Amino acid sequence: MRGDRRMRVLYVSAEVAPFAKVGGLADVAGSLPHALRSLGVDARTIMPAYAMVESNSSLDVETVIEDFPVIMGNGEVQPAYLKKIDHEGGPIYLLGTNRWFTESVSSETLYRPGGEMHAFFCAGVLRAMELLGWIPDILHANDWHTGFLPVLLKQKAGPAWGSTASVFTIHNQAYQGEFGLESLDWVGLPHYLFNYTQVEAWGRVNFLKSGCAFADHTTTVSPRYAEEIQTREFGHGLEGLMQHLAFTGRLTGILNGIDYDVWNPATDPVLASRFTAETIEGKALCKMDLRARLGLPESEGPIAGMVSRLSHQKGFDLILEGAERLFDQGLQLVIQGLGDPAMVDAFQDLERRFPNNFRLVNRFDPDTANRIYGGSDMFLMPSAFEPCGLGQMIAMRYGTVPIVRSTGGLRDTVQDEFNGFAFHERSAASLVEAVRRAMNAYKGDQWSTIRANCFATDFRWNGPAEQYLETYRRALESRNPERYHELLGERSA
Ligand code: GLC
Repeated sequence: MRGDRRMRVLYVSAEVAPFAKVGGLADVAGSLPHALRSLGVDARTIMPAYAMVESNSSLDVETVIEDFPVIMGNGEVQPAYLKKIDHEGGPIYLLGTNRWFTESVSSETLYRPGGEMHAFFCAGVLRAMELLGWIPDILHANDWHTGFLPVLLKQKAGPAWGSTASVFTIHNQAYQGEFGLESLDWVGLPHYLFNYTQVEAWGRVNFLKSGCAFADHTTTVSPRYAEEIQTREFGHGLEGLMQHLAFTGRLTGILNGIDYDVWNPATDPVLASRFTAETIEGKALCKMDLRARLGLPESEGPIAGMVSRLSHQKGFDLILEGAERLFDQGLQLVIQGLGDPAMVDAFQDLERRFPNNFRLVNRFDPDTANRIYGGSDMFLMPSAFEPCGLGQMIAMRYGTVPIVRSTGGLRDTVQDEFNGFAFHERSAASLVEAVRRAMNAYKGDQWSTIRANCFATDFRWNGPAEQYLETYRRALESRNPERYHELLGERSA
């Protein structure tokens, strides 16, 4: 018996907004634990102690454990420490070491360097919590970076961990973190364990697959994506395992939410004018302001925005192919994003050719992002695949009508000609056709209804957080029935 009636959840993520962010994972990690706390869960978060977070003087970072050893698989001792930020959304632990996490956070530094630091992070998380004396009921790991956690929990963790259940969430199955067999030695996992989960003959260990195979329960970030990853088209080689998990009741799709306090056009300080569904005039001022800041000329037509990593996933090839036809219809388009250098070149070239219609904001700039959400009429997401997508939800919160390819979470959130426009076929022609329909609606009376439906669609975390809680309960019930009953407030036998 743990004696307290609050479920303890440790949420583990390589990125957490607003401290360190590369993609949508950070937004989820920065808001779901908060929502869980409102449901009475003692949810805490742990992330790597990136130098940029520790040295951020606006944060109150407190040292919790000065110096402790994490013993790696080869017997080498890696010194570690634990710090903490008291955040309104719950405590954020920072696990640090002298060897990694020193560079500033970008997709290159966070995700490229070989997996060894991620293996260390997983081993260190368990050790740190033991020393802290705070053993969670649920260990909630996210994406491949934390894929070894469920494995370590089941195979190597000390007796303290015997009754903790693990939940693993896939935010993007396209990134799996594959490394050589030496990665098992980093944390001292025996090779035989992986005969089932790994293709030993390839000599590769797949961190994402390890996480799913060993977790008590796997979730992904929308119901539709949970189905898609069971198919060859979206499974990236793991469709067999996903089918197995689904068949045995261990795979659930839970739609992400967004934080309605963080994303709020009624209070957003960077907007030229605050607005709501009822005071929509303010949005027109935001649009003027956006044009003025970007040097785009006045026009009768709408502005469409995009805020996204410049990667293949996001469907920028369709935009490039269809751009001229979009601009012929009178559309102005602004894209903010960093990423693929070839795409940056292509979009810079597009800007030179269509200076009255197009702007690329090639930097990470949260203020400009908010001004795009606030000042655009439409928001484009022609993704090749999309596990959930947060952009379309944020756009709707700002009364900006999404135009999306109907896949994954986009399909679960956008209903054609109700709260946006959706197309199926992955082609520039289908995108152009969807934008044409949106432009027609924009000129007529249909627009205000669709925009009102966007405002009215609810993407708060409340509902999804309840679903996570239910998932945690189920995982706990099979792993630790006594604690499960204790938390339900029933007397166990
Ligand atoms: C990944 C996915 C995106 C999802 C986000 C948060 O970035 O690509 O679709 O919204 O994770 O779960």
